[in-house]
Amino acid sequence: MVTQIPKAAYPRPFLKWAGGKSRLIQQYIPFFPKDYNNYYEPFLGGGAVFFYLQPIAAVLTDINSELITTYRCVRDNVEELICLLKEHQIKHNRDYYYHIRANSGGSDLEKAARLIYLNKTCFNGLYRVNSQGQFNVPLGRYENPNICPENLLRAASAALSTSQIKQADFTDVLNQATSSEDFVFCDPPYHPISNTSYFTGYNGNSFGEKEQELLRDTCAELASRGVKVMICNSDCAFIRNLYKQIDFNIYPIAASRSINSNIKRRGIIYELLITSY
Ligand SMILES: C[S@@+](CC[C@H](N)C(=O)[O-])C[C@H]1O[C@@H](n2cnc3c(N)ncnc32)[C@H](O)[C@@H]1O
Repeated sequence: MVTQIPKAAYPRPFLKWAGGKSRLIQQYIPFFPKDYNNYYEPFLGGGAVFFYLQPIAAVLTDINSELITTYRCVRDNVEELICLLKEHQIKHNRDYYYHIRANSGGSDLEKAARLIYLNKTCFNGLYRVNSQGQFNVPLGRYENPNICPENLLRAASAALSTSQIKQADFTDVLNQATSSEDFVFCDPPYHPISNTSYFTGYNGNSFGEKEQELLRDTCAELASRGVKVMICNSDCAFIRNLYKQIDFNIYPIAASRSINSNIKRRGIIYELLITSY
């Protein structure tokens, strides 16, 4: 008899994150490089590609410090984190949500439990903060949210156990990836395809044309060292031109987008997958 491993035991993202790549992985598979020893993901978010590839040696970074604190707690203290999440699960109701939302202090473990709790219960799993850095997403409409997916958290913890995790701007990858042994996957905030689709931020910082150009230059520098670089972004003339200038390969990928404030813009759109190899 074949014993089925419960789905939750496979490592996969434990957060819902804007721009999450879980639904695109199947289309990315043919484009992943075959040979590399070290994996780098400088825009970690929900980490869908990391959890799919499960590299032994990984450097995972993101500019969002609360997100990074959460990953470190999942890696290092998953059982304590599960206990705190179980408390949130018991106490969860509307008033409790707004009470937790308004209180961002505490230990790293408490902060990590708060971020996961808010992510599982807020509207659409969005992460958005106001100009003072306070999380301001309203309560979502979930009948019975699974606030503590404990097997999934344990599986994620095991997958993360050999990874370096730190808060950093994406340019920090230049201090780390140096040779053809290295594979860098970049999933930056996407360039807007129209003025109305401009989405300024996951964390209050905007990621505009200057940042996209800096990312392109960073990728060009990595490629000149022999590093294998893969980038995804929206399919628009600005992004195509950026990477044409450095002779990277550009592939259109069909995607469906569910996080968009304009309901008419949900549905099939094309995105780009760009490689240096
Ligand atoms: C599109 S999301 C990544 C989604 C992720 N690949 C997934 O599957 O969930 C972009 C991430 O970039 C991060 N970010 C934005 N600006 C950044 C910067 N300058 N340096 C590093 N990370 C940044 C955001 O905090 C966000 O988590």
